[in-house]
Parts: sequence; C-alpha cells; structure tokens
Amino acid sequence: MPIVELRQISKHYVMAGNPIKVLENINFHLVAGERVAIMGTSGSGKTTLMNILGLLDHPSSGQYFLNGQEVNSLTEDERAALRNRTIGFVFQAFFLLPRLTILQNVSLPLHYRGCDKITATERAQQMLAKVGLAPLIHHKPNQLSGGQQQRAAIARALIGNPAVILADEPTGALDSQTGQLIMDLFAELNAKEKVTIIIVTHDPKIAEQCQRIVHIRDGKIA
Ligand SMILES: Nc1ncnc2c1ncn2[C@@H]1O[C@H](COP(=O)(O)OP(=O)(O)O)[C@@H](O)[C@H]1O
Ligand SMILES: [Mg+2]
Repeated sequence: MPIVELRQISKHYVMAGNPIKVLENINFHLVAGERVAIMGTSGSGKTTLMNILGLLDHPSSGQYFLNGQEVNSLTEDERAALRNRTIGFVFQAFFLLPRLTILQNVSLPLHYRGCDKITATERAQQMLAKVGLAPLIHHKPNQLSGGQQQRAAIARALIGNPAVILADEPTGALDSQTGQLIMDLFAELNAKEKVTIIIVTHDPKIAEQCQRIVHIRDGKIA
C-alpha cells in the first residue's frame, strides 16, 4: 500500500474573478521509505503541492490517500490529528521560536500533544543527539548557525515519529557545503528510520541524491 497517493489532484485559485490553474490532474504515489525530490521552476506549484500533501491546504478536486485514508472526507479536527500523527515539516526558513531554547523548540510538539514534560524533554534530547546537536540544546536559535538551526528543525519534525517528512527547499537558505550535510542527514534518517522524505528543491545536485525526481511543469508532472 502506498503511504501517499494522489489521484487527479487539481488546484485552482481565483484572482480578480479569473481562475488560475496551479496544479492540474496530478497523479503520484510514494511507497513507504522512499526519498523523492520535487523539482520545478519558481511558481510551478511545488509549495502548493507540499501544502496539499501536508494537509495544510485543500485541493480543488481529486483524491488524496494518506496512509490509506482518503483525507477529503475528514473533518478539520480529524485532518489535524492525522497531520500531527503522520507528517513532519521542514521549511527553508527553519521557523524555530526565537525565545525558546533548542531543547524547548524540539519538545514543543509533544507538549501540544499532552505528553508530560519529563518524557517530552527526554525524547527531545534523544532527537537532538540524533541530529548531532547534543552540546547545543540549551542555546537559543540565534546562537546557532543556519545549518545547526535546520538540524534542530529536523529534530522537531522527527519528534512525533512521523511516517513522512515534507521538506520545502530545506537547503535553500544554506551554503552548498552545509546544505550537503543536511542532505546527508536526510539520507541517514531515510536509511535508518525508514522515514519517507519528500524534498522540494531547484538544485539538481540536491535532487539527484534522491531515489526519484518528480518534475512539475505547467502544473503537471512532466
Ligand atoms: N493563496 C494563493 N492565491 C493565489 N495564487 C496563489 C496562492 N498561492 C500560490 N499561488 C500561485 O500559485 C502558483 C504556484 O505557487 P507555489 O506553489 O508557491 O510555487 P513554487 O513553490 O513552485 O514556487 C504561483 O503562480 C502563485 O502565485
Ligand atoms: Mg515554493
């Protein structure tokens, strides 16, 4: 069974009364444990696709099965619960909370889920050790380099043990050497933890490190 399956997914926006087609009849599936790159020029709909995959946005039409569950029929609460259980997000701009330590940032998703503080902290420490940040857990985000902040964001994405990581241009704000270390970390997590990883990038050197490359052109898979 695929972990992710899109059937005839389309997304349109209406701007000043005119429909704008962003995605058109996207069919796509992913088996658990795959590492896939999504490529396409700026404005080709990559983030729109990631938002649909991450249950942050609704398609205009089509069906999306996540872990066998057709998601359009779910209520917003059910979608949020499925998202929390299944998906981890990594963004270009990290989005760590500046007033919290790295440890607090990474344990936050577990607090939201009602996990007790001791367990959440222990688990956050384990995740931070896994991404190589054990010595820096009490630092604030602005005391870390960009690459270290992205490692912390990856630890935060992993803490709920998601089946799928969605990473939208995760190396876009990093120099190529640091970006490569992030890709090495994704490869290791993919191999060791069997987590399915979808990486949006417009860097062919990043994309070719994935097992499969999906190109989006004119709203369609090329
Ligand atoms: N909320 C929105 N309303 C109207 N148009 C949007 C909205 N979000 C994205 N778009 C348009 O959809 C297209 C694809 O955007 P996006 O998915 O962000 O592309 P990419 O991530 O590939 O650069 C762009 O033309 C963008 O302007
Ligand atoms: Mg984008």
